[in-house]
Amino acid sequence: MTNDNQSIHEFDFDLICEYFSGMERQGPGSPEATIQAVSFIDNLSDESRIADLGCGTGGQTMVLAQHAPGEITGIDLFPQFIDLFNRNAKKFNLQERVKGMVGSMDSLPFQAEEFDLIWSEGAIYNIGFERGIKEWRKFLKAGGYIAVTEVSWFTAERPDEIYRFWLDAYPGIDTIPAKVAQLQKAGYIPVASFILPEKCWIDNFYIPQVKAQENFLRKHRGNKTAVGLIKNQRHEAELYSKYKDYYGYVFYIGKKR
Ligand SMILES: C[S@@+](CC[C@H](N)C(=O)[O-])C[C@H]1O[C@@H](n2cnc3c(N)ncnc32)[C@H](O)[C@@H]1O
Repeated sequence: MTNDNQSIHEFDFDLICEYFSGMERQGPGSPEATIQAVSFIDNLSDESRIADLGCGTGGQTMVLAQHAPGEITGIDLFPQFIDLFNRNAKKFNLQERVKGMVGSMDSLPFQAEEFDLIWSEGAIYNIGFERGIKEWRKFLKAGGYIAVTEVSWFTAERPDEIYRFWLDAYPGIDTIPAKVAQLQKAGYIPVASFILPEKCWIDNFYIPQVKAQENFLRKHRGNKTAVGLIKNQRHEAELYSKYKDYYGYVFYIGKKR
C-alpha cells in the first residue's frame, strides 16, 4: 500500500503558520486538561520559573498562568506564533509574568537548574519524547516537574492502517506503560499520567479547523501545497474518528529525582 499523504513536516513553514495562527490552539488539548495536570504540581510559588516549550500562540500557556504562580517563558520556533503569544499575554493582562521568545527546544537558551516546571503540550514530538525528557531534565531544579502531552497507543495491538500511519508520522509513538518507563529511566518519578478526553481533539482541534480549512482553500485556490496541507489535516481527522479507541494524547507528569 502506498502512502500518498504527506507528513505535516513536509509542508512550507509559512503556510503551516498561517493555517494554525487563526486557531486558539495548534494541537489537541483543553483548559480542563491543563488545569488537571497543574493539580499534580506541588512546588510552585510566586518566585517559580516555568518554561512552556513549543508554546505556539499560547492557548495552554494562558490557562497555565491563570492557575499557577510564577513567571512563564514560552519558547517556539515560529516568530509569528510568538508575536501572537505576546499579544495574548497582554490581552489576559499577564504580560508581566508571561513572555514569549523565539527559540528551539533542541538548543534552549537556559542555565542548568533554572526551572521549577517544564511544560510542553503537543510539541515534544518535534525532537521526540525520549530525547526531550532526557535533554530538558538538566534545566530543572532538584524536585522540579516536567508535564508534557504525547501521542500514545492505548492498546498493545492495533489495526494495520493506523499502525502504519503513526509509524511513518512519528515512529516514537508507544504505549502508556512504555512512556512511563521512559520517564522513570530518564530520572523522574512518574507522578501521573492521564488520557486527554476525545473533546480535546474533536471539539478543540478538528472542529475549529473545518471553517479555517474552507477559508484557507479559498485564499490559496490553485496552490498545490495548500491543498496538500488541508488534505493531510482532513486525513488525520478522519483517521482519528475511525481509530480513536487505539491512540490519543496522554499527559505525563514527572518529578526530577
Ligand atoms: C502541535 S503545536 C502545539 C502548540 C501548543 N503547545 C498547543 O498545544 O496549542 C507544536 C508547536 O511546536 C512548535 N515547534 C516545532 N518545532 C519546534 C522546535 N524545534 N522548538 C520549539 N518549538 C517548536 C511549533 O511551531 C508549534 O507551535
